[in-house]
Amino acid sequence: MMSMEGFFDAGPIDAFPHGSARVVLVDNVRVAVFRLDSGWYALRDACPHMGSSLAQGRVRDGRVTCRWHDWSFDLATGTSDSKRKACARVYELRTHDDHIWLKPPPPVGRPSDDEDDEWMTADPDTWFR
Ligand code: FES
Repeated sequence: MMSMEGFFDAGPIDAFPHGSARVVLVDNVRVAVFRLDSGWYALRDACPHMGSSLAQGRVRDGRVTCRWHDWSFDLATGTSDSKRKACARVYELRTHDDHIWLKPPPPVGRPSDDEDDEWMTADPDTWFR
């Protein structure tokens, strides 16, 4: 369901467990919603490296670390400390009427032709900013 200026209803707040992540489908895309003491965060549930679930990653100090190869991503911005321009896709999140609402990020451009993106196999058209 969509309303509220491009936001999708991700479900009632009470359906999201404290201190962990829950995966929801937003426009047929898996999104990991983190409900932490520091706040709420929403990232596409696919690591930009090879697509592992970020909802199953380790969360610490505002970052989630992928369980496959240990790249880590800032939960608020999606930026990685691991490999050049790779970013997790961040969804805008709002609470309204006791529900969580998510807005998909805008499309992103392709890497320049001189980028060596052989290290990245998960949807390279969309993972660069
Ligand atoms: S799939 Fe996430 S770091 Fe490799």
